[in-house]
Amino acid sequence: MTEPTLRFVHITDTHISPEQDHLRPGGKHSSADCARALVAAVNALPFQPDFILHTGDVAYDPDERAYELAREILRALKAPVRYIPGNHDDPLMLQRIVMGNEAPSAPYDYEFEVNGVQVVIVDSSKVEHPDMPYSRLSASQLARLHRIARANDTRPLLVATHHNMLPIQAAWWDGYMRTANGEEMHEALLPARGRLLGVLHGHVHQQTTIVRDGIAYFSGLSSWFQLGCAPDQMETDYDDVALPGFNVCKVVGRQLFVRQQVYAVG
Ligand SMILES: [Fe+2]
Repeated sequence: MTEPTLRFVHITDTHISPEQDHLRPGGKHSSADCARALVAAVNALPFQPDFILHTGDVAYDPDERAYELAREILRALKAPVRYIPGNHDDPLMLQRIVMGNEAPSAPYDYEFEVNGVQVVIVDSSKVEHPDMPYSRLSASQLARLHRIARANDTRPLLVATHHNMLPIQAAWWDGYMRTANGEEMHEALLPARGRLLGVLHGHVHQQTTIVRDGIAYFSGLSSWFQLGCAPDQMETDYDDVALPGFNVCKVVGRQLFVRQQVYAVG
């Protein structure tokens, strides 16, 4: 058996709030309760992840108390956590309070390398209109992705962001929720598809897989609640039955394996 070159856990959409009545729709547990259960489930995995990827919406409302609570809950994870801001987050507050970064920046685009794998983070949190969840990547963000995808680089590549970039044939998701110019990100990544293992994201509160032009996109389950995705869905549609979860991810050479894992709360 070939040993994985990289093992990591993809968590997302913790929506942590200090309000104890910030309950899971149809349930009795708060988002903080659910995040604590997530930490316990990840720490109970029978292997040590190389890192944990949080693809955003760390807090529900971006205030200091929420991020202080998020820091308290998530620092119990037994692997380093890499954060991406979501539309519910304040990128600067997230970096300053949760990550202890004294010189935060926005957009919070960055990259790192683990075990020879290049991981590129794209901050999609800047919404196009206040109070609306859909976002737009800037021209300079797209130029950065073009540069990365065209570079003379042979390392396996992972890309991670918060929003769904491509439509999923559901009106509410495609018109109201996603990154409006997500297709431009997809086009920018095309030159790297030979080494691109996949794009990981959050935001959609459900597990989805999209493959276009040989590039695979994987979303993860929220630790708090899941959402529906009917073709004629025109508004928020809670899935009261689905459990919270996360993705267990393994890279072996140029292959990415993603397995959804669920857990019970309480
Ligand atoms: Fe989101």
